[in-house]
This record gives sequence, structure tokens and C-alpha cells, in this order.
Amino acid sequence: MGEQQNEIKVLNIVGARPNFMKIAPIHRLMEASQRFDPILVHTGQHYDEKMSRIFFEDLGLPQPDIYLGVGSGSHAQQTGAIMIELEKIMLETKPELVLVVGDVNSTMAAALVTSKLHILLAHVEAGLRSFDRAMPEEINRIVTDSLTDFLFITEASGRENLLNEGVANDKIFFVGNVMIDSLLSHLNKAKASDVTQRLSMDHQPYALLTLHRPSNVDNREVFNDILCALEKIEKNIPIIFPIHPRSRKMLENFQFISRIEKMSQCKLIDPLGYLDFLQLMANAKFILTDSGGIQEETTVLNIPCLTLRKNTERPVTVEQGTNILVGMDPHKIVAESENILAGRAKTGRIPPLWDGHAAQRIIEILESHYN
Ligand code: UD1
Repeated sequence: MGEQQNEIKVLNIVGARPNFMKIAPIHRLMEASQRFDPILVHTGQHYDEKMSRIFFEDLGLPQPDIYLGVGSGSHAQQTGAIMIELEKIMLETKPELVLVVGDVNSTMAAALVTSKLHILLAHVEAGLRSFDRAMPEEINRIVTDSLTDFLFITEASGRENLLNEGVANDKIFFVGNVMIDSLLSHLNKAKASDVTQRLSMDHQPYALLTLHRPSNVDNREVFNDILCALEKIEKNIPIIFPIHPRSRKMLENFQFISRIEKMSQCKLIDPLGYLDFLQLMANAKFILTDSGGIQEETTVLNIPCLTLRKNTERPVTVEQGTNILVGMDPHKIVAESENILAGRAKTGRIPPLWDGHAAQRIIEILESHYN
């Protein structure tokens, strides 16, 4: 009676670029709450200034409390290194709960260590499935979800997928999308970005391109097909291409850099920070991408999105949003781009609970478990 409740010690784990905007609203609310003692752990899977540090700044995230510095490597090397380091941290800090987001190698490595140490595990963005096991992220999703105690889903398909895999319904919570929490809370700040001026693209229509999936950029023929499509599209509209380090390396390996240089309207630039990229997305005529998160962000911004993949683990963006799966066939990519330029862009609506309050729902569910 009157005894104050102990703070719940939580390790919030991040590793790669798409994790940072997902953890930010959760970590912030936990820090503000009396009930949680959150510790931010960065595995160092992404380590470049432009892949990591700038996001902490843009999102107002504090410096990580613990940085593991594991860096790049093969999947086994990277996953193994993260597991070895995280096990030490968990044994030292003794958290009551570990929270992971998304589907990167850091997510799965953390899930394995957590469950082997019998610590409760929460997964934010659970249940998404592309049904394509050639995608490293699909393996990460399946393994992580099979070990998770609190599965926080972003869309209805998540529950269906998890139930089909035998997950108990009472472990699944439909909370909405924390990535959209970050988007909505940073949109005004992003509007102040001068990125279009810096690129000499102010008040001009442009298409925005991102590409990094191994199935697209590590394969010479596929990458070549995509470049053929870009060569046609850039005749009609300038393309801004902030390039992921993996894709730049592959462009160089395949000696494709000169192809890009010959496209006078294609601007190849370094990866951008969160606010600059958000501003570019919000003002783009359309987006070409193979990213997961951008399919969701464009749906909320009501910007047409052509996804250069054969499948998506985020079907709600196609069913309700602005997303179209165009695959890697150059004819289809060009045809859909021309459709948009001719004024026939797909419009959409915002999926349920993508309202900026997902992190709040997560915190409340976790709190009620400990009360
Ligand atoms: C990872 C995620 C992917 C996510 C993407 C976003 C996995 C399996 N994949 O892919 O789901 O969409 O992040 O970016 O976890 N590199 C650098 N600097 C960095 C990071 C990477 O130069 O800061 C280069 C290295 O050459 C590295 C390569 O990029 O080998 C790939 O990095 P890695 O973390 O293995 O996977 P991503 O392709 O970034």
C-alpha cells in the first residue's frame, strides 16, 4: 500500500536505418512515463553518419545508452556478432522486457537472445509476411514472431498471418503504425527543409527513387532492367536518387555508374536524413522504391508509389493506399509512370489506426500487463 511500483526496465533495440523512426515515439513516451526505465541499445548494424547518426538528430532521439558497433558482414557474421554482444548486455542490465521493431538482422538477433534468457519480448510491426523466403527480412519476421510475447500489428493482415502460424490470439494487439507516428509528428519540421533548393529542384516536378533490396541491386540483369526503365522515365521527369551504400557499391561493381551519369535528369545523391527525405517524399510527383516503409509513408502522404517488387508484406498499402506493385519489368515500370504523368495516378485512403497514436497504445498495453 502506498508502495511505489518499480520501474519496468526495458531494452529498446535498434540497428538499421528503418528502425530509428519506429523506436523514436516509443522511447520518447517511455522516457516521459514514471512506469518505464528505457535503455536505448544500438547494435551498430548501420554505422555511417548518413545511415544512422543523422536520424538520431532529426528524430530528437537521445544518444544510444549502449552502442555495440557490430558493423557489416555476412548474415551469419552480423547476426552472430549482435547475439554475442547483446547477451552480455542483457546479463548485465537484467531487463524485464526487450522491445524490437521491424525486420532487420538486429531484430531477429535480439529476439533470439531475449527468449533464450527467458526475458519477455515485444515486437513492433509483427505479422507482416511477403511469403517470399528469399527475402532475408521474411526469415527475420518469422523467427522473431515465433518467439515474441507481445505482437503489435500495423494492419489486419498481420493477425491473419500470425493466427495461421499458430500464434495465440491474445498475444496479438492491433495498435496502428509507429512509423506513421513519427511521420505525422515531423511533417511540419520537414517542411522547413531546404533540400529542394539544395538540389536546384524548387517548384519543379520530380520523381523520387530508392533502391537497395539485394534481389534488385545484387543481380546484374535485374539492376540493368531497372536502369533501362529509368532511362525512359528521366526523359519525361527528373529523378532524384538518394543511393544506399549497398546499391552504390553494386553500381560500381557492375560498371553501371556511367549509365547513370549519361542520364542528364537523374540526380544521384548521398543518402538523406529523415527530415530532408520526408520533405522530398511529400512533394514528389511519384515515388519508385523497393523499400518496405516507404510504401506506408507514401500511402499516408497520398503520393503515388510504384513498388519495384513482386510482392509486398504490407498489402494494406495496395488495397487501401497509393501503392502499386510494378515488379522489375521495365515496360510495366515505364507504363505506370506514364499513367501518373498523364494524370491517372492511383489515390487512396489512410488505413485504420495510422493516426499518430500507435506508440501510446503500445505503452498502455505494456503498462497494463505489469499492473
Ligand atoms: C538493411 C536491412 C533491410 C533494410 C535496410 C535499410 C537486413 C537483413 N536488412 O539492409 O531490411 O531495408 O537495412 O537500409 O537487416 N553499409 C554501409 N554503411 C552502413 C550500412 C551498410 O556502407 O552504415 C553497406 C555495407 O557495404 C553493407 C551493406 O551496406 O555490407 C549492407 O548493409 P546491411 O546492414 O547488411 O543490409 P542493408 O542492405 O542495409
